[in-house]
Amino acid sequence: MEKRKQVLSCIQPTGDMHFGNYFGAIKNWVDLQNTYDCIYGVVDYHAMTMPYTPKKLRENTWELIINLIATGIKPEHLFIQSLVPEHAELCWIFNCFCSYGQLTRMTQFKDKSSHSKAEHADDFISAGLLDYPVLQAADILIYRADYVPVGKDQVQHLELSRNIAQRFNNQVGKEYFVLPEPLLTEIPKVMSTADPTRKMSKSAGEKHYINVFAEEARIRKQIRSAVTDTGETPSGEMSPGVTNLFSLLKASGKMDAHASLMADQEAGNLRYVDLKEAVAEALVEISQTFRERKEALKADRKALKQQIKASSFEIRKRAQQTVKEVKELAGLQNVRF
Ligand code: TRP
Repeated sequence: MEKRKQVLSCIQPTGDMHFGNYFGAIKNWVDLQNTYDCIYGVVDYHAMTMPYTPKKLRENTWELIINLIATGIKPEHLFIQSLVPEHAELCWIFNCFCSYGQLTRMTQFKDKSSHSKAEHADDFISAGLLDYPVLQAADILIYRADYVPVGKDQVQHLELSRNIAQRFNNQVGKEYFVLPEPLLTEIPKVMSTADPTRKMSKSAGEKHYINVFAEEARIRKQIRSAVTDTGETPSGEMSPGVTNLFSLLKASGKMDAHASLMADQEAGNLRYVDLKEAVAEALVEISQTFRERKEALKADRKALKQQIKASSFEIRKRAQQTVKEVKELAGLQNVRF
């Protein structure tokens, strides 16, 4: 059998998971497991680049691990970045194959450094924030990833990873690293139900996101109060709120309900209550399964921690092999392990 292509992606540990995160990224990760050799990392080293709290970082890391498994990621595909310290070692080596100027031009760096400057005049901007994309390149290249499922906002970082790989290959005179490619699957853009002109996000406040583990009553309430039509949309066009509800229905896989409600819409007799009811039903169904899995995982935290430490250990072997070869090629010394 032909070897499966390698997929790698990572996510920063931050609190709750909402339907925007799930439909916009995680569900895709879950599905990719059927086709590719997948590795997914919870990147706690990355989470230190902005001001943070150690206790919260550790809590969020395990919370995210639980959430990922509960939503369908296989535990054997998961690792925690700080349990594979070779990422940081490769990052150092890559620093020397990356142009400083290119790092200062990264959009995410410019956004995050100026944003904090504007809000708190004396905010601390770490060198880690500038170096963030180099660590990301290490995450990707250490597993010789062919494909990296990411959002459009990460394409620039991926381009940098390719530049680093190329510069390294040139320096050592060998096509050692595969050049990774972004996997830009078509994913639904989930908007806030309270304000469908902005993305569903946690930072905007409680009513702007729906937690995938939320209780049934809360989901129903949030969908019931979803903005539909504010009267600003030109006739003949679908308002952002209604569009968002339809895309939530589609993302939930309720194609029959989607088709029949869409037919109502086209005939001009769609009742928003019916659309909302269908969406609420779909989301409740998904969240119920996830919530049950999450409870089961939380009931045996010890087993879960063991499992993730073991999978990180297995994944680490691959990282160690790469770093060993890289050090050899780069003229560094290897200690035997
Ligand atoms: N920078 C990514 C984000 O903000 C997270 C990330 C870190 C990542 N390392 C990665 C994504 C490696 C893909 C591959 O979403």
